Amino acid sequence: MLAMNFRGPRQIRLDSNKPEPEIKHPYDAIVRVTRSLICGSDLHLYHGRVPDTRVGMTFGHEFTGVVEAVGSGVQKLKVGDHVLVPFNVAYGTYPHCKQELYGNCHESNPQATAVGGFFGYAHTGGGYDGGQAEYVRVPYADVSPTKTPKGMDLENAVLLTDVVPTGYQAAEQGGIQKGDTVVVFGAGPVGLMAARFAWFFGATRVIVINHVEYQTVVCLAVIRYGPDHTGMVWPKFYPIMG
Ligand SMILES: NC(=O)c1ccc[n+]([C@@H]2O[C@H](COP(=O)([O-])OP(=O)(O)OC[C@H]3O[C@@H](n4cnc5c(N)ncnc54)[C@H](O)[C@@H]3O)[C@@H](O)[C@H]2O)c1
Ligand SMILES: [Zn+2]
Repeated sequence: MLAMNFRGPRQIRLDSNKPEPEIKHPYDAIVRVTRSLICGSDLHLYHGRVPDTRVGMTFGHEFTGVVEAVGSGVQKLKVGDHVLVPFNVAYGTYPHCKQELYGNCHESNPQATAVGGFFGYAHTGGGYDGGQAEYVRVPYADVSPTKTPKGMDLENAVLLTDVVPTGYQAAEQGGIQKGDTVVVFGAGPVGLMAARFAWFFGATRVIVINHVEYQTVVCLAVIRYGPDHTGMVWPKFYPIMG
């Protein structure tokens, strides 16, 4: 199958002959990828900043797909279901997951002291191949994957696998109060979502700081004029170029 292949820091390639994944465990599903994103976090792998990123790994922790096969223990998913698959690989019932700390599931990453299992995120994250490929083995398939709501565009669904919740969480953890002025550093996808949710939580002024001019203009246009299914009207933006 086609798959992104890490060859070392700043060296990646597209392979056409990576073996397709197979069911290895009763709780596995095999998902055929329909949309897959490149995250800013993938750049940390690409730049060689994440320990134990091994040659041959396929990145990708934000993807949607169609279930192609399920193991004998999978109950919630069936072949043909459209799913969105988030970053975390989590078992679901051990202590961290019970506290909703799915990112710390030690069952999916027993070697770890702090982090759990992640798709496409080095052996530090459990060594699971990710979604920048035609097919992915999705362990514990009843836990993290979510059926894509009927009628939802894949382009929107795939944003729910990382970008939207990360931006939401950033804004929520910022403790934004009505009327606040909020500063967001970085106008990548996550910064954009953090800015949008800052308004959602009641900020009256949101300042987004980014140092690449063309990106800033494009990104702020997305914030202001991008599709919005909630019917919310977003404030005007004022690009300030230094
Ligand atoms: N769940 C998580 O914890 C989670 C999820 C997704 C992303 N992330 C992290 O969030 C960050 C952003 O992700 P992204 O996908 O939007 O990345 P991105 O690389 O697309 O965007 C980062 C932006 O920051 C800007 N930037 C860099 N240095 C800057 C500086 N000194 N001042 C102002 N702007 C600067 C860049 O121009 C770029 O637009 C990354 O570090 C990523 O690893 C964390
Ligand atoms: Zn990500």
